[in-house]
Amino acid sequence: MRVELDALRSLSSYQYTPRAFEPGLDPYSEYRQQEFSNGHLAELFHENTKYRSYDDERIGLAVQAFIEDESMVYATSKIGPDYRGYERVELPDPDRLETSLDGVLESRRSVRTYTGDGLTKADLATVLGRSLGITGEQSLTEGDENPPTQRFRAYPSGGGLYPIEYYVVVPTVGEAFDAGVYYYTPTKHVLRVLWRGGEDFETRVSELFLTDDSLDVTDAGAILFMTGSIRRSIAKYGARGYRLLLQESGHACQNVLLAATALGLGAVPLSGVDDPAVEEFLDIDGVDESVVYTVVLGHPRGGKK
Ligand SMILES: Cc1cc2nc3c(=O)[nH]c(=O)nc-3n(C[C@H](O)[C@H](O)[C@H](O)COP(=O)(O)O)c2cc1C
Repeated sequence: MRVELDALRSLSSYQYTPRAFEPGLDPYSEYRQQEFSNGHLAELFHENTKYRSYDDERIGLAVQAFIEDESMVYATSKIGPDYRGYERVELPDPDRLETSLDGVLESRRSVRTYTGDGLTKADLATVLGRSLGITGEQSLTEGDENPPTQRFRAYPSGGGLYPIEYYVVVPTVGEAFDAGVYYYTPTKHVLRVLWRGGEDFETRVSELFLTDDSLDVTDAGAILFMTGSIRRSIAKYGARGYRLLLQESGHACQNVLLAATALGLGAVPLSGVDDPAVEEFLDIDGVDESVVYTVVLGHPRGGKK
């Protein structure tokens, strides 16, 4: 089993259970209960995962229990899909992005048509490495000979748990990459080949996306699927961890969009994917690990943006 499910499940025993409404806790709770009793799932989730000042102590205790039992150490240093046995594709060190931040903020635009040219190793390595890569580290315990290390990345992560994982799909064979499904490890800046695409690969890739005539993903250089380990996030923060997970994927995605723009590549973030189909394609279970966000990258048709 790739993900150590038992370990993850034991972590989730630390989660506090967000209460359903308990009238009387504050002057408005009764009103809110009525307002949301027939609420939409999204409203109910949001309302039930709001922090309030009187939650302070309860949340503090839950987080403290999590940290003290070394679960934090485990969650931040050891959990992640284990693709160690899979073929490695070494990536060059990312190039430095010399473009001004102002420049990329102004020129980033969603790009939906691509030339069909593959990405170079340098370009993919730079987009992934600069956006998602390690930018610092610290030891999590003192005195050990080989203390577990927490590594910090180019994007922020609630509680430093980094519950987002990265899968790169190359739709068409190019000079640098075979068509196939790869896994990117930010901590090692390496790709693992999960499987190579066969004859019908392009068709299978395009079927993962909801119909959108303006986007031909098979002309893109790469598709980055971000998946989330929901348990890693809720283990520390309860159901609110799900919000943190999605917020974090947004941070990572924006880095990817800006790095791609800085390199003269085009990119578009997507919601319109067939989630269970993507999960099956990536061979993840869709429960402990689910797809949360998608970015398509490539050479823009019509030249550099
Ligand atoms: C969360 C999110 C989901 C999106 N999903 C899609 C999508 O499924 N298909 C698509 O073509 N564009 C998608 N987009 C891109 C938006 O359409 C685009 O950002 C918006 O029109 C503004 O244009 P700009 O990105 O060029 O500034 C998405 C953007 C975000 C932030």
